[in-house]
Amino acid sequence: MKKAKPPVAAEELTPDRAETELARLAKAIRRHDRLYHQLDAPEISDAEYDALVQRHRAIEALFPDLVRPDSPSQGVGAPPATGFAKVRHASPMLSLDNAFEEADAREFEARVRRFLNLAPEEQVAVVAEPKIDGLAAALRYENGRFVSGATRGDGLVGEDVTANLRTIADIPATLRGKDWPPALEVRGEVHMRHADFETLNEEREAEGLAVFANPRNAAAGSVRQLDPNVTAGRTLHFFAYALGGEAAGPWQTHREFLDQLKRWGFQVNPMARSLPDLDGALAYYEDIAARRAELPYDIDGVVYKVNRIDWQSRLGFVSRAPRWAIAHKFPPQQAVTIVRDIVVQVGRTGTLTPVAELQPVTVGGVVVARATLHNEDEIRRKDIRKGDHVVIQRAGDVIPQVVSVVLSKRQKNSEPFKFRDDCPICHSRAVREPGQAAWRCSGGLVCPAQAALRLRHFVARGAFDIEGLGGKHIEAFHRDGLIGSPADIFRLKEKASQLIEREGWGEQSAANLIQAIEARRRISLDRFIYALGIPQVGEATARLLAKNYGTLEAWTAAMTEAQDPDSPAYHELDAISGIGPAVAADLLAFFAEAHNRDALADLGKVGVEVEPYRVTAVQSPVSGKTIVFTGTLQTMGRGEAKAKAESLGAKVAESVSKKTDYVVAGADSGSKARKAAELGVAVLSEEDWLKLAR
Ligand code: IVH
Repeated sequence: MKKAKPPVAAEELTPDRAETELARLAKAIRRHDRLYHQLDAPEISDAEYDALVQRHRAIEALFPDLVRPDSPSQGVGAPPATGFAKVRHASPMLSLDNAFEEADAREFEARVRRFLNLAPEEQVAVVAEPKIDGLAAALRYENGRFVSGATRGDGLVGEDVTANLRTIADIPATLRGKDWPPALEVRGEVHMRHADFETLNEEREAEGLAVFANPRNAAAGSVRQLDPNVTAGRTLHFFAYALGGEAAGPWQTHREFLDQLKRWGFQVNPMARSLPDLDGALAYYEDIAARRAELPYDIDGVVYKVNRIDWQSRLGFVSRAPRWAIAHKFPPQQAVTIVRDIVVQVGRTGTLTPVAELQPVTVGGVVVARATLHNEDEIRRKDIRKGDHVVIQRAGDVIPQVVSVVLSKRQKNSEPFKFRDDCPICHSRAVREPGQAAWRCSGGLVCPAQAALRLRHFVARGAFDIEGLGGKHIEAFHRDGLIGSPADIFRLKEKASQLIEREGWGEQSAANLIQAIEARRRISLDRFIYALGIPQVGEATARLLAKNYGTLEAWTAAMTEAQDPDSPAYHELDAISGIGPAVAADLLAFFAEAHNRDALADLGKVGVEVEPYRVTAVQSPVSGKTIVFTGTLQTMGRGEAKAKAESLGAKVAESVSKKTDYVVAGADSGSKARKAAELGVAVLSEEDWLKLAR
């Protein structure tokens, strides 16, 4: 790897400069810890991170006086994120020291020998196993039952993710057998397999969500979810590898402990091996490195652990890592090559992803010719340009990434990359909403890159819900030119003869399908809006819009008028509670495209009838009224008040306009109450509201 050369070798630093340098490195390490551990969004490669840590450590070793109590070398990772209860670990959750070269691994053994004062003929047997690139978790069992689970956090205090860990099949809810201690803490690595990672990202793409950069981030993001149902929907695995808390048990070797874990019902990496000495361990390392690409999950090295537990106890720990274990890392799979071009790909959901076309180069045995550049900000941050020499890396073996630009080789006439504002496939306008990383093509219904997925969505449950017309049929019909746009689905009956001739189809099945399509010619407004597949307009938002505008005609007229941000229609859209500026921007971008308006009109032409939204027949003094809440209510929160109003058939808006019927003013209500007075809108006290809402 091409590392930025440190300006001055650690040995040559003056104490003053060493202090400044340590402060700079500590700040960077802390920032990257936070990005990696809390936000699951690392900005640099593991190798770059390791280089920062190594330099920091080298300087601290030379200037021990400068080691501050808050130095990154004194703790692991980052303090726990907010949103989860905190758990203090029974014993610190440590990290491992790294060996990057064979010599480092040999030095590990030599250190062990020196520390234990072993005779030359005594061998240091180790257990070696792959180092899983996942997220460490500590599981607490009481009387054989899983009672709590935590992430590592800063090593001392982690996040309580018990509910999420319970959804992982590899984590036993109760231990098998009887020979478990009354309290037990098992540590291991939660991880996601490549196949599950790819499926998850495909699903996220289809829903218009940001994809995860690698399986580690996906696993960490899944475990650190506030809603355990989300975690339950992800397929995660867990390998147990260590004991936490006060280490004590009848087993004399680490191998015996691993076998015990298996008997209790844990998954232990089947590739874990007992090896007689370091030479055996190094041979194992080579073997695993050669098999790395075939494994179903990411690994970034091999961990060696001294097998004898009595030796482990004697060896103990240095500040952040045990003396009895080391991670022998694989060399980063990096190479330098040239960016031939930067092209923009259109995903099936309309996300525009910049991709670097590279001069093909072999990285870790695989030829890499393309690398994702993720999004506009990422290109700008790394300032990647056409013609640049770049360091590329296979991140966790999955997607090649550009790590950095070799600036010294940049051509003089190179120019920063400019993101184009149209779709390279259908030439509809591309938009990037505030707060979003990705540009998107707004030609949803017409863009060939997106058509198949949009059509699948159009007929899916919650949308047109056409029985017997599944995703596979849609894909095949689209591929063979039977359908290109949503309205074409309703024209299928004109192509009945072509349908009948298709493999696997006959008169009856074609007739059934056509009947199922006919049955759906009438549709409610909310389903219709949802079916259009406008980014960020899910079922709930579609219902909100339907409720607010009532009919298709009113909605389309309002969306057309709202293109002008000064129009009353825009203000009305903006005032709908639950529709933020980003959703409004997506809606307007959809209607700004003539193709999309044509596709809507076409649906009318083929006889799709959109029923007006039926307000549920709640009869209450506020049904059909528009209410704005302002100030602090004493008896209920804003959310509850809003839900109550909606359940009584009212619409809740965020801002006051002539259309507002009531403003409910709690304590400290400011400008909204004043505006209501100006417009002559009735202002209710909280008491008045409670009477109305009884
Ligand atoms: S043993 C006392 N074994 O790598 C330390 N760790 O970079 C016990 N890791 O903190 C750790 N695979 O989160 C061990 N087979 C394995 C591992 C493993 C992944 C993680 C673990 C550790 C980190 C250090």
